Amino acid sequence: MSEIAIETRNLTRRFGRVLAVDDLNLAVETGQVYGFLGPNGAGKTTTIRMLLNLVRPTHGEVFIYGEPVARNHGVLKRVGAQVEDATFYAFLSGRRNLEVLARISGVDVDGRIDALLAQAGLAERARDRVGTYSTGMRQRLGLAATLLTDPDLLLLDEPTSGMDPAGMASVRDFIKSLPAQGKTVFLSSHLLSEVEQVCDRVAIINRGRVVAEGPVSALLEQGGLSSLLIEAAPVETARAALAAWSPVDAAERPGWLYLAGAADDAPAVTQRLVEAGVAVHQVVRQRQTLEAFFLSVTGEGVVVEGAGGDAPGA
Ligand SMILES: Nc1ncnc2c1ncn2[C@@H]1O[C@H](COP(=O)(O)OP(=O)(O)O)[C@@H](O)[C@H]1O
Ligand SMILES: [Mg+2]
Repeated sequence: MSEIAIETRNLTRRFGRVLAVDDLNLAVETGQVYGFLGPNGAGKTTTIRMLLNLVRPTHGEVFIYGEPVARNHGVLKRVGAQVEDATFYAFLSGRRNLEVLARISGVDVDGRIDALLAQAGLAERARDRVGTYSTGMRQRLGLAATLLTDPDLLLLDEPTSGMDPAGMASVRDFIKSLPAQGKTVFLSSHLLSEVEQVCDRVAIINRGRVVAEGPVSALLEQGGLSSLLIEAAPVETARAALAAWSPVDAAERPGWLYLAGAADDAPAVTQRLVEAGVAVHQVVRQRQTLEAFFLSVTGEGVVVEGAGGDAPGA
């Protein structure tokens, strides 16, 4: 039986009125590349910061290799995390920067630095000054740096953000090479395509809540995420009343609002609209593919399937 590398129980974090992470229950088995997929503002970074004990949960707990991180920080020695905007000395080479970091962290790297640089696709530029590196190369150097301590678990927060396609491909290869070295990877992204290409399993998070979880292939095949389509008037009042669900206009259905992943909330949504004095004409559950769902929650357009009106009424 595989060991559980990360477990979160009812993990919740509130910032004032914003519920950044809402009752998150995850289990990540060792040896996996686990994707944590969600649009900007979904709560990915906050979750990763709680995994690292950098942000205190409002409620709930994090266990790393079975140890509660809030009470036993020692277990974080087994974790490598990519530091956001890792800073390197621009006047030193990539190789020299890793040597300096290794010395600061007191780790014995005995000849592993060249291997790490090669793994990050930086072998040919290892002796060039970091000041001459592209953003993507710097990020890859940051990834190599996370491996200096030879961690069992890597937490990577949007490791390909800001990269060109070649840089992304090289980071993907890097990540894919990690399980063979006995490492577990937890990786956040706002790009479905990224997660699809490197992850074994994925949790999709939107507005702090998990809306789907499972093997990537299964999620992509079944689709089957349910959202709500609502016809209500006046639509502007409805939109304001439903702000907590981040409603968007349904394409090709004027006067309809679309609430991604909210199918189970039909009673609460209806009640909210009635309280706001809005006339509710129709509330329709809508099944959709993962791709369509993801496009809708990332605000890249709403694909309403079966827009002819054959969706079942709720
Ligand atoms: N330190 C903070 N103070 C107030 N609000 C925050 C703070 N950190 C994050 N948030 C809010 O929490 C939500 C989730 O943010 P974040 O975890 O950064 O999302 P993601 O990484 O998925 O883009 C956002 O609404 C964000 O504005
Ligand atoms: Mg983030």
